[in-house]
Amino acid sequence: MQPNPFDLFSDHEPVQQPRNEQIGEQSWVLRGFALPRIESLLTQLAAILAAAPLRHMVTPGGFSMSVGTSSCGALGWITDRSGYRYTRVDPLSGLPWPPMPTVFAELAHAAAERAGFADFHADSCLINRYVPGAKMSLHQDKDEKAYAAPIVSLSLGLPAMFLFGGFARSDKSQRIPLLHGDMVVWGGVDRLRFHGVLPIRHGRHPQLGEQRINLTFRLAG
Ligand code: SIN
Ligand code: FE2
Repeated sequence: MQPNPFDLFSDHEPVQQPRNEQIGEQSWVLRGFALPRIESLLTQLAAILAAAPLRHMVTPGGFSMSVGTSSCGALGWITDRSGYRYTRVDPLSGLPWPPMPTVFAELAHAAAERAGFADFHADSCLINRYVPGAKMSLHQDKDEKAYAAPIVSLSLGLPAMFLFGGFARSDKSQRIPLLHGDMVVWGGVDRLRFHGVLPIRHGRHPQLGEQRINLTFRLAG
């Protein structure tokens, strides 16, 4: 039988993982980095999603994304038939995106610092919700005005297999399992690396149930 890469706590896998794993010259996985602030993060997240509900956005090519998406912060990322971009207003409500909670901003700042990026002040937090089967195809984050600041990602809920590729879509990707509370930071020479997420497997997370939520913090404007 093939080993199941998601079964991280099976008898055959070591339970202890190194806390920080370097996955590129300027890219790190910070294991469990968000756990000390998780309750406060989840409370704030629920309030944001009540004000700016998740919705399935449409790509310029006309495909509905499998993830449900929302944002907080001064700028929110959207896609529709006319393209990918950041907006100040949530097109669903016509109101500004909910402000970035302090606990989000502080966590993103601390994670960036741990990965070697001082003074990271995110103005955008993209929220993607994956139900089992939902995925994110390989892409680069390049709708931001500049690329000096890193991308900081936080995983919540069900495990995911994160793909961390190279600078061409066809480059081989590393497969990195991400668990509740793990953070990934990529920037500098790695800022434009292709990345994506394999379809989420069925399961139930004790706190979040049958879903994975990923937050990505960016300096967009
Ligand atoms: C993204 O690239 O926007 C999401 C990455 C992830 O869900 O881990
Ligand atoms: Fe991305």
